[in-house]
Amino acid sequence: MTKGILLLHGPNLNLLGTRQPEIYDRITLADIDAAAQEHVTAYPIDLRATQSNHEGALIDSLHEARDWAHGVVFNPGAYTHTSLALRDAIVAIEIPVIEVHLSNVHGREAFRHKSLLAGVCLGQIAGFGWQGYILAVDALLRRWGLLGDAAAIPN
Ligand code: DQA
Repeated sequence: MTKGILLLHGPNLNLLGTRQPEIYDRITLADIDAAAQEHVTAYPIDLRATQSNHEGALIDSLHEARDWAHGVVFNPGAYTHTSLALRDAIVAIEIPVIEVHLSNVHGREAFRHKSLLAGVCLGQIAGFGWQGYILAVDALLRRWGLLGDAAAIPN
């Protein structure tokens, strides 16, 4: 059975490529989406990517994911540190969500150390740049027994 993965990108991530390259590298969002898409070609995965700068639109995307997705890979950008509404949405949809950050938020300003979302996510991946998205996709593939030693990973 095909599994759906929503790759969801939050505010300012549309500017990747030119935004603070010393922190976020020069890779663009289109590059990240293409790398993730390429990564799942060998698997029965329907991967769809979207980005919004608006909290409500991100909530709508999470709600809509209930109709087709089985996992979400989510970089909530700065909403990570502020959004109770996104936290509630993640809880409400009952789909595993993996929080991803390009940078190691724990090594940056103190206000980035706190995530309002990580506690209701399956887990958090931070500091591995664009590869973090691939690691998150792999975590879902493993969870679904599509990659690696499924027997070792309880659902
Ligand atoms: C980010 C980290 C956030 O603190 C920041 O607000 C972002 C990007 C990251 O991917 O490292 O917009 O989510």
